Amino acid sequence: MTGNKQIMIFKTPEDLAEELAKKFLLLVSEKDKTGTPFTTAISGGSTPKLFFSIIGNRYPDIIKWDNVHFFWVDERCVPPSDIESNFGMTKEMLLSKIWIPEDNVHRIIGEADSEKEAERYSQEICRTVPLRNGFPCFDLILLGMGEDGHTASIFPSNKYLLESRKICATSVHPITGQVRITLTGPVINNARQIIFMVTGKKKSAVLQKIIDEGDPSEQFPAARVKPLNGTLEWYLDAEAGSLLKGI
Ligand code: 6PG
Repeated sequence: MTGNKQIMIFKTPEDLAEELAKKFLLLVSEKDKTGTPFTTAISGGSTPKLFFSIIGNRYPDIIKWDNVHFFWVDERCVPPSDIESNFGMTKEMLLSKIWIPEDNVHRIIGEADSEKEAERYSQEICRTVPLRNGFPCFDLILLGMGEDGHTASIFPSNKYLLESRKICATSVHPITGQVRITLTGPVINNARQIIFMVTGKKKSAVLQKIIDEGDPSEQFPAARVKPLNGTLEWYLDAEAGSLLKGI
């Protein structure tokens, strides 16, 4: 443990994904015993692909999917058929391989008007995810981190989203200009469990600044993920964690 966060370093991205899949199975089965839905918001990008494919290919029938509700941490404002779509990727890697009620898959409608969809999605979240401290409280939020220290679609250029009073907001990728919809900082930090999945050498320097130094200049949104009452775990591969000293 380092501070209030737990950091685990795995030899390879495959080992990381394997371990995270087992953790996910455990969390879902534990919540199932309470008789209440397991609500999770998942990220897109490339890192989660391995994790999704392991669940979809190896454990498709172990989980009682009718008690699991998938939401997205963020989405690119494109249709599901677009290669950029986080929902499209998740459908290919996981959702197409499991039996889960349609009502349990809460996609962000990327092809809709972004401002209206951010509002609509906020309301959809509140219909299923219980509120705590005035914000939805997900059981688990799975995050990635970009090389610039962004997470969700909260970039160094729009850090105000870390303090937004909204549940979802629109965002713009600082390099590509791609419009996105994202959960805001207060929703992310309200989760019971937050897990970062970060792999690759290119992210090792930013990770070192965040985890070892605490990002004193507060430039990286990922460093501002500090759960109010929940837990924070970093699942790293050896390359991403190669510069860490404090663990
Ligand atoms: C997205 C993600 C984003 C992602 C990071 C890391 O929509 O792209 O939500 O926050 O997690 O950019 O992306 P990679 O996993 O592709 O490195």
